[in-house]
Amino acid sequence: MKTQVGIVGAGPAGLLLSHLLHLDGIESVVIEAKSRQYVEDRIRAGVLEQGSVDLVTAAGVGERMRREGLVHEGIYLLFQRRRHRIDFKDLTGGRCVTVYGQQEVVKDLIEARVNAGGQLVFGAEQVSITGFENGPAVIRYRGERGEQQVHCDFIAGCDGFHGICRPSIPDGALRVYERVYPFAWLGILAQAPPASEELIYANHDRGFALLSMRSPTVTRLYLQCAPDEELSLWPDGRIWEELQLRLSSDSDFRLVEGPILQKSVTPMRSFVAEPMQFGRLFLAGDSAHIVPPTGAKGMNLAIADVRMLSRAMKAFYSSGDAEPLANYSNNCLRRVWRAQQFSYWMTTLLHKFDGSPSAFDHKRQLGELDNVTSSRAAAMNLAENYTGLPID
Ligand code: APR
Ligand code: PHB
Repeated sequence: MKTQVGIVGAGPAGLLLSHLLHLDGIESVVIEAKSRQYVEDRIRAGVLEQGSVDLVTAAGVGERMRREGLVHEGIYLLFQRRRHRIDFKDLTGGRCVTVYGQQEVVKDLIEARVNAGGQLVFGAEQVSITGFENGPAVIRYRGERGEQQVHCDFIAGCDGFHGICRPSIPDGALRVYERVYPFAWLGILAQAPPASEELIYANHDRGFALLSMRSPTVTRLYLQCAPDEELSLWPDGRIWEELQLRLSSDSDFRLVEGPILQKSVTPMRSFVAEPMQFGRLFLAGDSAHIVPPTGAKGMNLAIADVRMLSRAMKAFYSSGDAEPLANYSNNCLRRVWRAQQFSYWMTTLLHKFDGSPSAFDHKRQLGELDNVTSSRAAAMNLAENYTGLPID
């Protein structure tokens, strides 16, 4: 096969890139290791910034999101048994977020690519890339018909944190910045109506908890746990009991319980690899950076990266201008580091840290929560960062 851009990975980054390139008349092939069903069913994040919603809508793939997505004009911060609302709409002059599952975005994008005759390969085994430094860039994989090769001008590494693209870059060419947190999130999806119309982020003596949702009948809930937490130690009853405790408040709030549809443990990490480019290989999304989920930035960063990359590719193919491609990494990293700072701040504001500094840190967290919920300037800072920078 021959194409202009070979894309590794069919997550939001790879699929949206392929779609945006198609709108600009640029051909691509997407090579994905998992099956279509697997990527469509994989439960992940669920908050889209205003700019991401606008971009997805402008790209013509936002119709179902507009129908089924839940527009949220604020969130709650819960601490010391009191809930405080952060009113995004008021604080940002009208910006909101939309709660819509990442796998729904993925489904919509796959459908759009398939309808447009786009080339998507699922279930590719032994994927490898070569020639992106000098020589012809090639993606190799084993498919239904044996060994395959995709020859391309550029490779987009959209294969997530555990993919093969970033590790294919020679040693020493990338600088990695990383922080691993001493906790994880135990997440559940429950067949139960959300007990709050808006998300609740809770700082509790027993650890962080979050109430989110996917629809008026499905609740998504998380609680802070150990990084190596054993799921078998968490029968449904224990999960509900712990969530009820951590999300309780002075008003007689109670979660609505229901059958648990899915349980998983998500590790927490901050990670950036710089630069996000090597030769004709461009990294986008989780393959280049990871944020802890507390700020709900992961999917939004992936979307902003591929917007930047599709623009740069368009400049290259339409007028031979290679400068936007050369600036791709620096331009993305500015947003990435702002999101890193915000996600780190939200994470350290809300989680319980064990060990000797914990008593001091807990008091300091309460001081900062008091600040954020009583100073308009501080609340505005949270609201602006949560709803996100515009994507141009
Ligand atoms: N070959 C081909 N595909 C691969 C390979 C490989 N060797 N390794 C991984 N993949 C695929 C994965 O199966 C996945 O479908 O690459 C895709 C990467 O998708 P995501 O992990 O969803 O990453 P990205 O598109 O960057 O989206 C970032 O995902 O993890 C969340 O919080 C994160 O919301 C953010 C979003
Ligand atoms: C989610 O709904 O999955 C979700 C919401 C907010 C977050 C993280 C995850 O900060």
